[in-house]
Amino acid sequence: MKIGTIKESKNKETRVALTPDVVKNFVKQGFECVIESGAGLHSYFTDEAYKNAGAEILGSAKEVCEVSDVLVKVNAPSIEEITLMKEGSILISFLYHLTNPDLIATLNNRKISAFSTDAMPRISRAQSMDVLSSQSNLAGYKAVLLAADNAPKIFPMLMTAAGTITPAKVVIFGAGVAGLQAIGTAKRLGAVVEVTDIRPETKEQVESLGGKFISFDLGNDVKTEGGYVKEAGEDVLKRQREILKKHLALADCVITTALIPGRKAPVLITEDMVKVMKYGSVIVDMAVEQGGNCELSLADSIIETNGVKIIGLTNLPGMLPQNASEGYSKNIYNFLTHLATKEGMKWEMEEEITKGTLICNKGEILRK
Ligand code: NAI
Repeated sequence: MKIGTIKESKNKETRVALTPDVVKNFVKQGFECVIESGAGLHSYFTDEAYKNAGAEILGSAKEVCEVSDVLVKVNAPSIEEITLMKEGSILISFLYHLTNPDLIATLNNRKISAFSTDAMPRISRAQSMDVLSSQSNLAGYKAVLLAADNAPKIFPMLMTAAGTITPAKVVIFGAGVAGLQAIGTAKRLGAVVEVTDIRPETKEQVESLGGKFISFDLGNDVKTEGGYVKEAGEDVLKRQREILKKHLALADCVITTALIPGRKAPVLITEDMVKVMKYGSVIVDMAVEQGGNCELSLADSIIETNGVKIIGLTNLPGMLPQNASEGYSKNIYNFLTHLATKEGMKWEMEEEITKGTLICNKGEILRK
């Protein structure tokens, strides 16, 4: 079976879906790997490294797509790339199928069986295949570095001959995968960290990392399912905004990571709340692609309002392309070896991981 990877065509994408190390593992298992020349360069993986790992290097995306039984990508393919793929072949990439029905229809018209990496069920068996976790973890780290880099002050407390520098105060919204990594990173840099989440079980996780949990009355407004917030009523968000306003007034950096799967991100920081923040403080809005946790953030922009910098950069994992590609690629390896052997695909339609991720199969759309 031939597994192919091409250069990511989406604007400014730096990641690559297969790394040389993972190619080596696939080849060991009896798979063949074909890579478009230059596909790994933005992640600093050379054609030479892929060749040494046992891959065949081809000159164009067209050549790779034409021979690949399975095409693995980070971002969803463009319509043009889909037309290059073999009819009846397999695709594994981010698809965000709920918001991309036209893309799924195009894949389905070519009878491509498409697995969406972002639809991986959150079960322990699938943890090693979970691209959202591997990428959010790195994004949480990078968000703290961006905050630190844009803040006009340092994070740790310093006692110097010129006086004592007080530690920076960082407020983090959301203690999921990205938020927990952000807590750890901000603590390691010496900041004082406060955290809010509306899943009560996160309190213990936050405290075990040295963060201070901001508690408030959740009422009966929050519904959770499978470790996720499914719904948060406007009343609870209102109570949260009132409490958090006081904390934001003292914050030097704020990192927001709060998401509700399949919905627009909740607005947690209103324009009024930004107005109470200190001159020189920084917000990194990690939810900006889903509409933003801060009312004022703009995707792919850094803006400044009343002396508060609001960073709305998307694709933070892509700012750490080497580790992000390594993590993604290992997730793909674990996923693909779960679905296939060198002899061919062995997936079972009723198995939980297949059921969760297989969006269309041989001309039938399975998930809408
Ligand atoms: P996410 O990216 O969907 O959300 C991030 C965080 O935002 C969550 O902690 C959520 O509770 C929080 N949030 C939502 N509304 C909020 C609000 N109004 N204020 C403050 N915070 C708010 O979540 P993520 O990071 O993908 O993980 C969610 C859960 O899934 C965690 O319990 C995690 O341990 C679990 N998980 C399980 C995996 C597995 O078993 N394979 C893999 C990855 C995560």
